[in-house]
Amino acid sequence: MALIAAKIDPTAKEELVEGLSQALADVAVATTKAQNFHWNVTGMAFGPLHALFQKIYEDHFEAQDEVAERIKALDAHAEGRYSKFLDRSAIKEHDGHASDREMIEMLLADQETLSATFTALAEVSDKHGDWGTNDMATGRIQAHDKFAWMLRSHL
Ligand SMILES: [Fe+2]
Repeated sequence: MALIAAKIDPTAKEELVEGLSQALADVAVATTKAQNFHWNVTGMAFGPLHALFQKIYEDHFEAQDEVAERIKALDAHAEGRYSKFLDRSAIKEHDGHASDREMIEMLLADQETLSATFTALAEVSDKHGDWGTNDMATGRIQAHDKFAWMLRSHL
């Protein structure tokens, strides 16, 4: 189907926006969590971990914008309240007190969650022939799988 916002089947739109909104919430909470760890990581590997966690939160910050603007392209409301992201997200906050290894383990689990969330979005967009969303979702899966590999390689 040619995806012109006004012509999307309402049920398809609802499912797509639902999947996108979940992805937005998950990636938003993951952004702040990676930045929290970027600030608070300690240990002999401080330098490279501080830098890797920055790469993660910068990537995720851009992804938030990409996902939210895809919601707008589908002519729906993009949630922008962090309190709502926290309510909805499958990724939970952490207070920032943790060893470097525990931080790596938590961020790895979050990358796996994000990959699963975007896989669900890729599936729903495939079902509805929304190739714009599908392309974005598959790109995000690749990004999260790559960060997962980088984190896992420390353990
Ligand atoms: Fe910084």
